Amino acid sequence: MKTLAVVNSKGGVGKTTTAVNLSARFASGDARVLIIDLDSQSSASFSFGIGRQDLTPSIGNVFFDQVPIQETVRRTSVNGLDLITGSMELANADVIMSNVKGRENQLRYAVESLLDEYTYIVFDCPPSLSILTVNALVTADAFIVPVCPQYLALEGVVTLLSAVEKTQEGIGKIAKFLGILLTMVDRRSNATEELIHMIRDHYKNTVFNTEIGISSALAEAPGFGQSIYDYAPESNGSKAYTDLTIEILDRMLKKEGVN
Ligand SMILES: Nc1ncnc2c1ncn2[C@@H]1O[C@H](COP(=O)(O)OP(=O)(O)OP(=O)(O)O)[C@@H](O)[C@H]1O
Ligand SMILES: [Mg+2]
Repeated sequence: MKTLAVVNSKGGVGKTTTAVNLSARFASGDARVLIIDLDSQSSASFSFGIGRQDLTPSIGNVFFDQVPIQETVRRTSVNGLDLITGSMELANADVIMSNVKGRENQLRYAVESLLDEYTYIVFDCPPSLSILTVNALVTADAFIVPVCPQYLALEGVVTLLSAVEKTQEGIGKIAKFLGILLTMVDRRSNATEELIHMIRDHYKNTVFNTEIGISSALAEAPGFGQSIYDYAPESNGSKAYTDLTIEILDRMLKKEGVN
């Protein structure tokens, strides 16, 4: 398993923060890592200090303009970590691709030629189950679901996972569900405590042990174009994403070959 999608149709739950910092952590050591920004908001790209005017060539150009994917790969300031940017055009992907035959396989076809070059590829998905998220699910070996423990969070996950299941029925092989990640956890709040209890009770071992706490450093780092490892290596956020990386790699290894 080497390809991982970060998925939740709910917005603002920490998908991009997770995709960016996991990718940065994956890239420590001598792994070669690629993060692909599939969101029209391009937050992951901005998190690496790319300006709005510098997003082209993007994954959008691969989908809509037949630009070879190799030409869209760029280095980031993180050693060993490459990036393919998102772009505004991705917002129209469902309409533009509606008549494309095999539209849910476009990303898989494009990424195929890069698989040998990278140890890990991470997809940051938009906050919807759009054709781009479906493409990520078809391409990735596994997916994780960040969940911010707030009111209605549990309902959101139930809906998302059953929608993913329906997608699978329609398409066949898709990414394996690796687990739920609790993000932006504020342990001082009783309501949060209760929600976490409910989520852990309901989803048992699928919930990662690691929780990502509320952290100003995690929120600030993107503004400096840095991952948490460069911005605040000693912070709780940095430690949490390191713990998460270990758990994810462990699960990826264990799920290998399991259907
Ligand atoms: N652990 C955290 N502590 C504090 N702030 C956080 C944390 N994780 C993420 N944030 C902030 O919360 C906001 C939403 O996070 P993020 O962009 O990662 O979510 P998302 O799910 O990718 O959102 P979208 O659905 O819009 O793509 C951002 O401003 C981010 O900096
Ligand atoms: Mg995002």
